[in-house]
Amino acid sequence: MQRITTTHITKMKKKAEKIVMITAYDYPTASLVDNAGVDIILVGDSLGMVVLGYDTTLPVTLEDMIHHTKAVVRGSNRALVAADMPFMTYQTGAADALRNAGRLLQEARATAVKLEGGEEVCTQVRALVDAGIPVIGHLGLTPQSINVFGGYKLQGRDPESARKILSDAKALEMAGAFCIVLECIPEDLAATVTRSVAIPTIGIGAGVHCDGQVLVLHDMLGIAGKVRPRFVKQYARLGEAIRKAVEQYSEEVRHEKFPTPEHSFSSDEVAGALGTPPASVANKT
Ligand code: KIV
Repeated sequence: MQRITTTHITKMKKKAEKIVMITAYDYPTASLVDNAGVDIILVGDSLGMVVLGYDTTLPVTLEDMIHHTKAVVRGSNRALVAADMPFMTYQTGAADALRNAGRLLQEARATAVKLEGGEEVCTQVRALVDAGIPVIGHLGLTPQSINVFGGYKLQGRDPESARKILSDAKALEMAGAFCIVLECIPEDLAATVTRSVAIPTIGIGAGVHCDGQVLVLHDMLGIAGKVRPRFVKQYARLGEAIRKAVEQYSEEVRHEKFPTPEHSFSSDEVAGALGTPPASVANKT
């Protein structure tokens, strides 16, 4: 099956078709979201917070991103897979950006990379696009700048910062980015940006007028920690379901209710009657 291409994504804006992006970080979740029909799987550096247990995205390394992106690519065959460039893998200049983004495409087999920032990273964006590396921009609440923002706060509230987000979006478009994530900005500003650029905008906490939406998988499935930003809609409560399942398993093990004969083997059963062995047994028999 042919993967969704960057040109397909840009055409979606022209056809007024909403773009669905979601994060995934491993093989099983990539396979689930791909089968659910999303357009873009983002291997976000939110990985650091929802999978690796850091309190910001800053400690995530390029090696982390390559490792997880490889698994996501193996788990999907339809969606476009984009990988985040971690903190300090592109801010330091075009040569670093090229080398590091190149590894995300060549080793991890991502189709595109995402990086945070506006005009200040446009030299890098241009160099990447010129080298054949599709780029997604990211404006507004850019988590790698959390120490400058002083917290996870709505951005673009005052006229000056709103103007900067708009001019950054235009600069990213000029530099060759094929779409832009807008995070945690007022919806009227997101609507203005969306009208002002020909490339698609993908919002998270940026209202309904963006050309598409993105959510962090663990947030929308209810697996992430206790803090849930207001812009996250929880579509399932998997954290609670997992806890209950493991509590029931623990209880059954402690009271010898599991395993039952149904999940056990007796020595007089013939091999063919055992059904399909679980993966853990299949490789040993
Ligand atoms: O890292 C991430 O998951 C992201 C999305 C929130 C857009 O950048």
